[in-house]
Amino acid sequence: ARAPAGWRRLRLDARKRACLDAMGIEVWRLRHDESGSNSEEEIDGEALAVAGIDAVTGPAATEQRAPDARLAEPAPPALDSEIDLDWPALQEAVSHCRSCDLHQTRTQTVFGVGDHDASLMVIGEAPGADEDRLGEPFVGRAGRLLDAMLEAIGFARQQVYIANIIKCRPPGNRDPHIEEAASCQPYLRRQIALIQPKLILSVGRVSAHNLLGTEESVGRLRGRVHRFDPGDIPLIVTYHPAYLLRRPQEKAKSWQDLQVAYRVLHDPMD
Ligand code: URA
Repeated sequence: ARAPAGWRRLRLDARKRACLDAMGIEVWRLRHDESGSNSEEEIDGEALAVAGIDAVTGPAATEQRAPDARLAEPAPPALDSEIDLDWPALQEAVSHCRSCDLHQTRTQTVFGVGDHDASLMVIGEAPGADEDRLGEPFVGRAGRLLDAMLEAIGFARQQVYIANIIKCRPPGNRDPHIEEAASCQPYLRRQIALIQPKLILSVGRVSAHNLLGTEESVGRLRGRVHRFDPGDIPLIVTYHPAYLLRRPQEKAKSWQDLQVAYRVLHDPMD
């Protein structure tokens, strides 16, 4: 693509270029800024503009899926009887869980995957058909885009921890019901407590609503650093990769969110 007037295509190393290509993103730098760039600078949000300037600077967009009345209430507070299990016991408990009706239709539970000492924890919505079949989160098309997004900020999939709000597939990929999310909440909270990540990346509306107890759109929640309670853990909201597959023009905003995530992870006091 041709550079917008006044911008030039940023020189990136082959790996970063491949990652951004995988996300379908082109990165431009203002022509008057000719200072030499190092790799830190290349993913510095202030120095970069992403192709599709309107998409970056325009009013915050909202996700297209209609708000779900069942998710209108904030997630219930932490249960006093919060589970206190180690990893093997927690995984075992999840695999036998019958706390909600989803156990009747699941093939298997989808616990979570990745590094138990990860600095970055990604939290999605719920397993889809591929995840239900394979028992691992984000293994379908959306998962491949998530992998590319993570790689764009220097993480291989196995270096982060990936989990969902819900451990069992809702039939037909419908939105999880509020009571299903409430049943699953202690498991996810225990995963977060065991990992103690430096940052939570919340992908999509269902994840953000449940983690933050809000009904605001992703378009309004993204672009700032929230705090997850308990633990006061920095949390960034971005679009769900499945949404980005449907609306690739929003990838530029997700790339901005990832740059914020990178900065929080590398300079948490900033
Ligand atoms: N979407 C999610 O939110 N989680 C998955 O594991 C897969 C798709």
